[in-house]
Amino acid sequence: MRKVRVGIAGLGTVAQGVLTLLGRNHQLILERTGLSIDVVRVASRRAKEVDLLGADFSTQLSDLVTDERVDIVLELIGGEQEAHQLIQDALAAGKRVVTANKAVIAAHGNTLLAGDQGSRLAFEAAVAGAIPIVDALQRSLVANRFRQLLGIINGTCNYMLTTMELEGISFDEVLARAQSLGYAEADPSFDIEGIDAAHKLTILLALAFGARFEFDKIFVEGIAHITADDIRYAAELGYRIKHLGIARQRQSGLEARVHCALVANDSLLSHVDGVANAVALSADAAGDMLLSGPGAGAEATASAAVADIIALAGSTDTRETSPQGAEAIQRDQDNSTSGETQLLAMDDIESAYYLRIPTLDRPGVFAKVAAILSDSNISIEAVIQKEVKAGKEEVFIVILTDTVAEKMMSATCNALGELEDVVGSIVSIRVAPTD
Ligand SMILES: NC(=O)c1ccc[n+]([C@@H]2O[C@H](COP(=O)([O-])OP(=O)(O)OC[C@H]3O[C@@H](n4cnc5c(N)ncnc54)[C@H](OP(=O)(O)O)[C@@H]3O)[C@@H](O)[C@H]2O)c1
Repeated sequence: MRKVRVGIAGLGTVAQGVLTLLGRNHQLILERTGLSIDVVRVASRRAKEVDLLGADFSTQLSDLVTDERVDIVLELIGGEQEAHQLIQDALAAGKRVVTANKAVIAAHGNTLLAGDQGSRLAFEAAVAGAIPIVDALQRSLVANRFRQLLGIINGTCNYMLTTMELEGISFDEVLARAQSLGYAEADPSFDIEGIDAAHKLTILLALAFGARFEFDKIFVEGIAHITADDIRYAAELGYRIKHLGIARQRQSGLEARVHCALVANDSLLSHVDGVANAVALSADAAGDMLLSGPGAGAEATASAAVADIIALAGSTDTRETSPQGAEAIQRDQDNSTSGETQLLAMDDIESAYYLRIPTLDRPGVFAKVAAILSDSNISIEAVIQKEVKAGKEEVFIVILTDTVAEKMMSATCNALGELEDVVGSIVSIRVAPTD
């Protein structure tokens, strides 16, 4: 039997999930892996009525770094600055670190994971909760070249869009519901503006496509502009609206974007509902696959974090003195600035589009719209016309276009908006790529 001694930072949702899971399955893990995971210290802002499995408690995070018994620090405090500092300090002290913190990895992955130090830091729980996507990309599918990755990687957005569709309710109503059920934070901006998904996509891009961790270069849109009307019209056209993280290897570079997209009803991804997460991968050897499951939750996330503890406990001890570690980081930074993966600008991507154009209900309006699209060389794949409200003189012209360059679509929407028959903002939503 081997032993690994763990120190946990934080005593919130995930930390409590880890303590519950280890309390229940300690013996099972020992039988399967020969490893006894012993929690020796918990450090958090304040104590709570929680079974610490015999661990010491302190309010100073630094105690986890100075406690010589601690082999692995499990960082579960969230946020960015203090968590980043703790991870750095623990690694510099020669400890191994497990984190569920996507914000820190997305912002500081280039340095934290550089050189030999990278083998002492694990972060499965940072992306898509219980789904073993990090392990899949780092190990099971490591021999593959990836063509495309589409991810439903924010459970709050997926819950909100699914509920808007099932119940036909507005964005504001569903947000209030999500908050009362604990699926959305009191300040939901990180989730609904797409930032959380962009953190996760940053990590997936690095793992699947060898990109640098460059969170700020990813195009990000949230879900607040989606209406129940759009969800209904998309359904009539054979699609569901999902909030996606998209990465695609093109000849000219790598697409990296987070936004809502129409996903065809006949794809598995379109059936991932509620708070569930999923990642669809197209790999050259393994083929197409979908990994789906719980993307959050105390024990679901703990499942991934405990797997990381077991993996790190089994890895060769690569402890090194800080100066050597610092050199390794510098070397790696110097190498990686050569940058083999180039992220494409949004103007350079191509997509099919859903357009909802509010117009006056007059003869000849559709012909004018069609003429502008035709002048831009944009083909219409499908069209439906909808009354805005009974008795009103407005209609929505809803169009599904063929693939068009983003730049061309923006210019075309501007031209459409200048028609005197167009009486409001044009809604445009990209269609998820299929090839
Ligand atoms: N919740 C999920 O389902 C989920 C899923 C995947 C990944 N994650 C990630 O897991 C991490 C933890 O999430 P969580 O949901 O468990 O968060 P949480 O419930 O807010 O728990 C955070 C814990 O850390 C403590 N803490 C925060 N800042 C601290 C500081 N500076 N010093 C000492 N203690 C501090 C908090 O103290 P108080 O108790 O006093 O607030 C709390 O106990 C985050 O990075 C999150 O993104 C969460």
